[in-house]
Amino acid sequence: TRRAVIRGTGRYLPERIVENAWFEDKIDTSDEWIRARTGIERRHFAAEGEATSHMAIKAAQNALDRAGIAADTIDAIIVATSTPDLTFPSVATMVQSGLGMTRGFAFDVQAVCAGFVFALANADGMIRSGQAERILVIGAETFSKLMDWEDRGTCVLFGDGAGAVVLEAAEGERGVLATDLNSDGSYRDILYVDGGVATTGTSGKLRMQGNVLFRHAVEKLAETAHRAIDKAGLTTADVDWLVPHQANARIIAATAQRMHLPMEKVVLTVADHGNTSAASIPLALSVADEAGSFREGDIVLTEAIGGGLSWGAVVLRW
Ligand code: ACO
Repeated sequence: TRRAVIRGTGRYLPERIVENAWFEDKIDTSDEWIRARTGIERRHFAAEGEATSHMAIKAAQNALDRAGIAADTIDAIIVATSTPDLTFPSVATMVQSGLGMTRGFAFDVQAVCAGFVFALANADGMIRSGQAERILVIGAETFSKLMDWEDRGTCVLFGDGAGAVVLEAAEGERGVLATDLNSDGSYRDILYVDGGVATTGTSGKLRMQGNVLFRHAVEKLAETAHRAIDKAGLTTADVDWLVPHQANARIIAATAQRMHLPMEKVVLTVADHGNTSAASIPLALSVADEAGSFREGDIVLTEAIGGGLSWGAVVLRW
C-alpha cells in the first residue's frame, strides 16, 4: 500500500522564554495556579518583527536537514496557522520562497489548534492519490499577538513556535494509517478571535470560555481518537505513543485516562511550550523524535481540538 511516511521532524522556538512568574506583577495570578491548573511552567514569545513565516522557515529547514532531503525535491508545502504574517499571501508561499523554491505548490490550512491534524490528513490524501511524492507539513503560530494581556483566563496559556514534518510516499506498512476529522460551527462562541478583515478591520483578541471548552475537549478528543484507531483496524492497546495537542496537562491526562493509556506513553511538552495551537503537535513530535523515543513500527496517535470547534486524530506507524 502507498502511504505517507514521516522522514524527518524539525522545530523552531523563539529565543525569549517567559516563566510563569513574569505574569505575577501584571495580572492577578500566580505560578502555582498556572502550574496546577494547566501544567504550564514557561512559554516562548516571538520577538518584535519575528513573524510566523520566519519561525515556519526555520522549523522546515530543520526538518529537511534531519531528513537529509533537499528543499527543491519537495512537491507541496502546507502550513497550519491561524496567525499568518499577512491576510495574504499564505505563510506557505513565504516558506516556499524562504527555502529558495519556485516549483511545487503551497497553501495554508486554518483549523486553529486542530490545524496540524487537518493539514496532515490533507497531505496524506494528496500522497495516497499520487498528487505529490514529498510534502512539508508545518504548524506555525504567533498567538502572543492575539492575547488580551488583561484577561488572566487566556494570556497565561499560549506560546509561540513552529514544528514541521517531511512526508514522503512509500510502499509498505509504515506511514499514516487512518485519519478522522470533525467540525461543528455551532460552537463558535466557545473560542474565537473578536476581529477580522471583513468585520472590524482589526486582527482582534482571543476570547475563550475555558471551562466549557475543557469538557468538550476531553469528550471529543477521546471519541475522535477511538474512531481513528478503529479505522486503522487497531485497538487502544496497540498504541505505543500518544502525541496530543498540548493545551493543558489536565485535558491530556483526562483524555489518556479515558483511553486507558498510561502517562508513560504520552509525549508532554506543554510545561515548556504552553499552548502553541497548530504548532504544538509537530513541536512535540520533533522533541520526542530527537530524544529517540519512537522506534520503527511504533503506533503513534495524534489528536487535537480547537476553535470552530474543529477536532480530529491521525494514527500512523512510525
Ligand atoms: N490565575 C488565577 N486565577 C485564574 C486564572 C489565572 N491565570 N485564570 C482564571 N482564574 C480563575 C477564574 O477567574 C475563576 O475564578 P472564580 O471562581 O473566582 O470565577 C477560577 O480561576 C476558576 O476558573 P475556571 O475557568 O473554572 O478554571 P479551570 O479549572 O477550568 O481552568 C483553564 C481554566 C486553565 C482555562 C481551563 O479551563 C482550560 O485549560 N480549558 C481549556 C481551554 C484551552 O486549553 N483552550 C486552548 C485552545 S482549545 C484547546 O486547545 C483545547
